[in-house]
Amino acid sequence: MFSTLERSAAKILDLPEGDSRVLFLRSDDLTHGDIATSAALQLSKSLGQSPKVLAEKIVAGLTGHPDVVRCEVAGPGFVNVWLRPEVFVSLLPRVLEHTNATPTRKEQPVIVEYSQPNIAKPLGVHHLLGTIIGQAVANLYRHAGFPVISWNYVGDWGTQFGKLSVAFELWGSKPVAQCSLDELLELYVRFHEELEKDASLEEKGREASRKLEQGDATLRAFWADVVTVTKNSLASVYKELHVSFDLDLGESFYEDKMAPVLEEGIAKGVFVEGDGGALIVKFPEESGMPPYLVRRGDGGTLYSTRDIAQMRYRIDTYNPQRILIFTDVAQKLHFEQLVATCQQLGWKLPPFENVLFGRMRFADKSMSTRKGNILKLEEVLNEAVSRAEAIIESRGDAIQTDDPKELAQQMGIGAVAYSILSQNRKMDMVFDWDKMLSFEGNSAPYVQYTYARTQSVLRKAGVESVELSGPVSQLADHERQLAGTLLQFPGALREALASHSPHMLANHLYQLCQDFNAFYGAQQILKADEPHRSLRLRFTEATARVLRAGAQILTIALPDRM
Ligand code: ARG
Repeated sequence: MFSTLERSAAKILDLPEGDSRVLFLRSDDLTHGDIATSAALQLSKSLGQSPKVLAEKIVAGLTGHPDVVRCEVAGPGFVNVWLRPEVFVSLLPRVLEHTNATPTRKEQPVIVEYSQPNIAKPLGVHHLLGTIIGQAVANLYRHAGFPVISWNYVGDWGTQFGKLSVAFELWGSKPVAQCSLDELLELYVRFHEELEKDASLEEKGREASRKLEQGDATLRAFWADVVTVTKNSLASVYKELHVSFDLDLGESFYEDKMAPVLEEGIAKGVFVEGDGGALIVKFPEESGMPPYLVRRGDGGTLYSTRDIAQMRYRIDTYNPQRILIFTDVAQKLHFEQLVATCQQLGWKLPPFENVLFGRMRFADKSMSTRKGNILKLEEVLNEAVSRAEAIIESRGDAIQTDDPKELAQQMGIGAVAYSILSQNRKMDMVFDWDKMLSFEGNSAPYVQYTYARTQSVLRKAGVESVELSGPVSQLADHERQLAGTLLQFPGALREALASHSPHMLANHLYQLCQDFNAFYGAQQILKADEPHRSLRLRFTEATARVLRAGAQILTIALPDRM
């Protein structure tokens, strides 16, 4: 953002052309100027001069620079710089460029896999994490111009179908296609209850699984119906969450793609015989990894077999520049073994990351103590919306909306999604109704309210886009603070993308909202004299655009009134 000054400072230090070691960053505090550099400290060794001397050199050289009001040496060798108002104004268009998605570049795709629920079960609240974080990261990649394939690798294969078909046979009362997901779940739960009394069910389930895998037509039809019922139900939850996928090819898709891979592994001596005729992969002792089971003793394939086949398929079909798979930490070992297996097979993998996230913890104890039974995501989302409804009603005239139902939807769903995206994914995440629905603090309603405020100002100003009426000689502190934060948007996008951490973007939006609200409280905007009025409208408009772009990446809907 501050490349002009960075280049000038580099020149002052006699660095070679193109040397990019001098960086200016936003100062933490306005009393330390608008931006600062620690270049003198960092380059002291390589330039053979003390930080103080280098810092003084930079200050002397920058004094009188057209962008600079004042600069000073601070502490052991920092350089603080106060910028002219025109610099903020002239950099705004560059910030606003980043509010539009970069046109998609023609290059190899990035595969982003997330959500991946298992078929025949409703989404549980724990699915939220991977689903929302994965979607936000896919959105970050798209916004930055990468071609993205978002992929829902549904768990539509495995022993659960055998069990379900037995339960259905015994206790089902209508065609599968007419069952709700809840009814299917009930059957599945009943199977496990009855299993305690009648151990023979286990074998029946296994037998059905085997027949299904061998292509039994009736079981196939049953399976296809169950998949359809589940996918329809998933679709409505995804829609509410603004989550979507380019592909939902699940485990079953790899059914006919495992045999060649197994043959290759055997031929290459990577898949060797383990206990009871199973096929396993062994890893060097130093790796600390246990053997990886890739085929059962009875010839049946596994979750691992499908993932190996899928890695091959993705590389052959899409030649991706990168593959990301979002899962919780329970799957860490599985993916380490998977990658090591592919390497033993001699496959060349693109950069691969199993992007991990923490567990969900509940502030409300009653949510975590429901043993056995999963807490359904749909119920949680419904509760979020009805809580938002109650809040809107209790606030009365303090909330302006033409459509309270729609607003409650935006607020409730936004609150749940934002509460996840505003927390560092690597830590356990806290689910806290009061915090996520609060109008103060780092929450969706706060961001939504602030956005609605910008819209109200711009509506009253009655302008489509703001033209500046002339130069402003000085900025008030609230304006400097807001302007400085606006300039950080491109960096926040970059960092959130590089570390696959949407909370870095959420935190930026939160800071921006705080700065905008302080600015709004301290300054007249519409009644100010020119040129201040148009400059303040311009800051308001820029704030709105950054919030809109950021919220869209984070799947949060923004209301025009609130
Ligand atoms: N369906 C799996 C589960 O619910 C997660 C799938 C993760 N992705 C993968 N490629 N194995 O546990």
